[in-house]
Amino acid sequence: MDIFIQNISKSYGEKQVLSHFSCVIPQGSCQAVMAPSGTGKTTLLRLILGLEQPEEGSISGIPARKSALFQEDRLFPQLSALKNLRMTMPKWNEEEARRLLSELGLGDCLNQPVSTLSGGQARRAALARALLYPGELLALDEPFTGLDEASRLRAAEVIRRFRWGRTLLLVTHREEDLPLLEIAERIALPSLQACQNMV
Ligand SMILES: Nc1ncnc2c1ncn2[C@@H]1O[C@H](COP(=O)(O)OP(=O)(O)OP(=O)(O)O)[C@@H](O)[C@H]1O
Ligand SMILES: [Mg+2]
Repeated sequence: MDIFIQNISKSYGEKQVLSHFSCVIPQGSCQAVMAPSGTGKTTLLRLILGLEQPEEGSISGIPARKSALFQEDRLFPQLSALKNLRMTMPKWNEEEARRLLSELGLGDCLNQPVSTLSGGQARRAALARALLYPGELLALDEPFTGLDEASRLRAAEVIRRFRWGRTLLLVTHREEDLPLLEIAERIALPSLQACQNMV
């Protein structure tokens, strides 16, 4: 089902983040959400994921199961990468999880508490969790944070394979990420803040 975002507005206190924003996200499409820092990319994802409610407007067509990589890793720090994945999977396939983590370059630290991983390693563990979870919508908020170029290329390749035709929403600041993930479409967020600052 396509996702219809119709005329939504969202504020935090006095601060208006989205105002009468609309767009359609076709099922199975790949969309980049690109806009300057602080303009509402994460807020839009949180609205789509049902973690926030708009004050006005509606969002329809959201699948029941959604795979999300949040801007923060949100891993259980005392658990290993493997156990973090195990915690969220409706069906546990340890071999597949091990393979995915290894493909992301975490083969040597599968059983290490996540708190002892580097920032980029923890980011890849969080990415693996989102990719493995069988949601029909895959929402990735800046998945390559903390990754060096080689890790970024490898992670992009893994994302392409693990997408399985699911709708992909990618928040990124980097133009170079779009061809890596074969993304041609964008959700343009109007920069309200820039407008407000000009008044
Ligand atoms: N829970 C909250 N309470 C108050 N203000 C918030 C909250 N969440 C977001 N905001 C504000 O809403 C605006 C949009 O935030 P958001 O996190 O969506 O931006 P973003 O585009 O994802 O930025 P970045 O690229 O830095 O991650 C910001 O001005 C932010 O301060
Ligand atoms: Mg953000």
